Amino acid sequence: MPSLPTVPSAQSAPLDVLGVPGEINLDYAASAPCARAAADAVAELLPWYASVHRGAGALSRRCTLAYEQARQTIGDFFGARADDHVIFTRNTTDALNLLARAVPAGTTVVTFAGEHHANLLPWPRGSVRLPVPSDPAGAVRDLAAALTELRRGSSPALPVLVAVTGASNVTGERWPVAELARVAHRHGARIVLDAAQLAPHAPVDLLTLDVDYLAVSGHKLYAPFGAGVLIGRADWLDAAPPYLAGGGATSHVGPATHDVTWATGPARHEGGTPNLLGAVALAAVCKALDEADQGALAAHEQALLARLRGGLAALPHVVELRTFDPDAPRVGIVSFVVAGWDSTEVATRLAAEHHIGVRDGLFCAHPLARRLLSEAAGRTGRRDLPPTALRASIGLGSTAAEVDRLLAALAELG
Ligand SMILES: Cc1ncc(COP(=O)(O)O)c(C=O)c1O
Repeated sequence: MPSLPTVPSAQSAPLDVLGVPGEINLDYAASAPCARAAADAVAELLPWYASVHRGAGALSRRCTLAYEQARQTIGDFFGARADDHVIFTRNTTDALNLLARAVPAGTTVVTFAGEHHANLLPWPRGSVRLPVPSDPAGAVRDLAAALTELRRGSSPALPVLVAVTGASNVTGERWPVAELARVAHRHGARIVLDAAQLAPHAPVDLLTLDVDYLAVSGHKLYAPFGAGVLIGRADWLDAAPPYLAGGGATSHVGPATHDVTWATGPARHEGGTPNLLGAVALAAVCKALDEADQGALAAHEQALLARLRGGLAALPHVVELRTFDPDAPRVGIVSFVVAGWDSTEVATRLAAEHHIGVRDGLFCAHPLARRLLSEAAGRTGRRDLPPTALRASIGLGSTAAEVDRLLAALAELG
């Protein structure tokens, strides 16, 4: 393998994030900024940029190797079992849609109403949507009851898939994934973890959590270029029709229209030229996180989160949205409303007057966001809460000064 051209050495650390001076990004949950590790890995590969799995030239072979090494690194980072598939997708939505197409006919999917649309909408007809529980223990109890009931009425051979998030994109609250996995397996069901919001904030290990499938988005994990992955058990994936029929997904194509033998393994579902840079960027971040002190990163984030939530709680005109108890474990995401203010107007003012970027709306989790808004009105007795919310989210590179700027800007609205 020819040696790689070197990148001018950066003085910064791999997990520093890129940004624009003066602009405060508090919208990591939508798309996180690019980590130095991802930018460097892409810059290093760009001169070699060529086809993947399609060429004999040195450039092409280098790219093919980089793509497959990325697959290995990402699989290892998420604790993939030796016989799991690691399939590159565009993002979490794509990964969950892939799985939805791959589940055997007759599979019942069980999920909770608090999920992001990506984990509510792809599932086949007949899926069961459980109500949002009031605490994590309730989620475990409700799932056990639902699976008991489901098994009572159906053959134990019929497949059941439980689909849950690791952390809510609305509230940041963490879900009891390992316990839910235990319940699922006790009832002969499989479980898929939507780790889109958990993975950027905490280690996620498939084996430790004992989940069957895991979906993540690179762009929320400090890696731009639109790659995600679905990791998980091979049998359903190898038996399913290809997610994308086309070049790269076949092992043989004959002259007749349907004379085709589909590949097995990840290639079966990765038809077309893959997103090499996205895969490499995501792998670079996984490697950098793996080598970092993740405990220290989490502690820093939790300290900032406490500062943010404490500051919001001190503003009498601000109401936080939550599903669980205020002390329930959560990642660096907070949704709230400013009483008497339209949320879009607040977000626009924060951007225009303070150079602060936050999200407003219902966050692609309409059932949950609407419910929490109405609960917030009930809890506080306020009649001047708006119909949509604001969301501030933090992560690598976020600072106390940024949090304080947001709090000061919101204080002006009181
Ligand atoms: C919990 C959760 N799941 C899934 C998704 C979908 O991610 P993507 O838009 O990258 O497909 C999101 C995006 O916000 C999310 O927060």
